[in-house]
Amino acid sequence: MSKVAIVTGASRGIGASIAKRLAADGISVVVNYTARPADAERVVRDIIDAGGQAYAVLADISDSVAVEALFDQAEVKFGGIDILINNAGVIQPGMVNLADSDDALYQKIFAINTKGTFNTLRLAARHLRDGGRIVNFSTSVVGLALPGYSVYAASKAAVESFTAIFAKELRGRNICVNAIAPGPTATELFLGGKTSEQVERLARQPPLERLGTPEDIANVVAFLVSEQGGWVNGQTLRVNGGIV
Ligand SMILES: NC(=O)c1ccc[n+]([C@@H]2O[C@H](COP(=O)([O-])OP(=O)(O)OC[C@H]3O[C@@H](n4cnc5c(N)ncnc54)[C@H](OP(=O)(O)O)[C@@H]3O)[C@@H](O)[C@H]2O)c1
Repeated sequence: MSKVAIVTGASRGIGASIAKRLAADGISVVVNYTARPADAERVVRDIIDAGGQAYAVLADISDSVAVEALFDQAEVKFGGIDILINNAGVIQPGMVNLADSDDALYQKIFAINTKGTFNTLRLAARHLRDGGRIVNFSTSVVGLALPGYSVYAASKAAVESFTAIFAKELRGRNICVNAIAPGPTATELFLGGKTSEQVERLARQPPLERLGTPEDIANVVAFLVSEQGGWVNGQTLRVNGGIV
């Protein structure tokens, strides 16, 4: 029987690459999205055209009731859940220093990045089959301590703590919980609101001297959820070409 994965925020960017890669590896994928149904349906169609199994489900991960419906729909459609990829996330437009961050910015970023991850983790404890895998999403900005990213980095630092502690709380279930902390990766989230000079400067920072691609990140997710990844647990892996 094929494994089943929920990938949050899989309509585009890193999440879409993860969904396609896991499906290519034989995993049935729930493609979660919140605002762009056409993008999510395109990902589903690409997967099905390539011989895989996928299904799109609308759910705003910051809404615990919607997340419950997401898990229920995944179970109804595919008969169970083995893997949760907590990829959905948002960032501030451009760079905003802490002193210039308003309440709305703080609330939005923490509601989606932190509460959204909490919402899905809590349900994963109940719904994931034993032997499952969870991959959360942090950012290398936590390590870089970049000015202009304080609220975003703080919302993801909490995700790193969830990861380390939840891995221990799931003792006895044979479920591995890890986080990936990408560096600058060529998606709308990274490119939006930046000048081409800012993008160029950040792209030159890692010793490998380029931006990451969504596929670079999907490759590591595929490893973590594979049999070969089964001894990695409770870790945050920075995947960033060496930027930090
Ligand atoms: N790109 C980078 O440089 C970078 C670096 C470090 C960490 N990350 C992390 O990697 C993850 C993916 O980032 P990305 O660059 O691929 O972002 P992206 O291109 O902006 O895509 C974001 C995805 O998240 C979904 N989403 C946003 N808010 C949501 C919500 N409330 N509920 C459900 N889905 C929601 C979007 O759905 P819709 O299409 O429906 O709007 C979209 O599928 C994020 O957690 C981000 O923080 C990215």
